[in-house]
Amino acid sequence: MGFIVSCDVKVFKSIDDLSYYFAELLMNEVNSAKHLFNFVLSGGSTPKNIFNFLAINYQTKINWNRINFFWGDERCVPPDNDESNYKLAFDNLLSKVNIPVENVHRIFGEAIPEVEADRYSELIKKNVPLENGIPIFDMIMLGLGVDGHIASIFPDQLNLINANTICAVAIHPSSNQKRITLTGKVINSSKNIVSVVTGEKKSKVVYDILGNKYNSNEYPASMISPINGKLIWLIDQSAASLL
Ligand code: 6PG
Repeated sequence: MGFIVSCDVKVFKSIDDLSYYFAELLMNEVNSAKHLFNFVLSGGSTPKNIFNFLAINYQTKINWNRINFFWGDERCVPPDNDESNYKLAFDNLLSKVNIPVENVHRIFGEAIPEVEADRYSELIKKNVPLENGIPIFDMIMLGLGVDGHIASIFPDQLNLINANTICAVAIHPSSNQKRITLTGKVINSSKNIVSVVTGEKKSKVVYDILGNKYNSNEYPASMISPINGKLIWLIDQSAASLL
């Protein structure tokens, strides 16, 4: 049953207002952390806008060298492919701020998917604090698909929400493209889950998940409910238009 026990929902007039809120949230969390901040990036158009906003306005406000970058999912393509989530982040943020190369842990989209899911799971175990074998990230950024997917957990693969592995191989339901994704338990174990959603085309799925609880149990995003952390939805007015 899909459920969101408790979450904070903030609606913004524009993507820039949303990006500003995200940037301030990230800055406060990173700069107050007493340890290397383990941060999981998302792919997608909304995160791209946020990356650009951070690169232009927060070059010096955030201690970028105090962040360990990971990805919530990756397409199984080489890192120079325009579909790569790593390339999206590198082109729009990582190449523009001062980040030690050893702090960027990309998923090897060019590798054999099943082998890479295991490799990345082991890498996360070595770099992120574990509780009962589950990595506890400091912040996970999530986009939202029109079908309610998050990371690369799609509605026809809800088993990945409760899978016991840290990463898994997923398959995009229409393109059949293989993806590597964090699993739901890992996402729900994060200290901060920040779901960023913009655009009119997301208004129906946003309403189903946040406004109409009775229609939401087929969406992976409805299964995102932090175990001990916080969940916040940052939504622009277009995506919130049915709420
Ligand atoms: C990906 C993302 C995915 C994305 C949503 C929303 O690899 O595509 O991780 O989960 O966040 O599909 O993407 P848009 O913001 O581009 O609609």
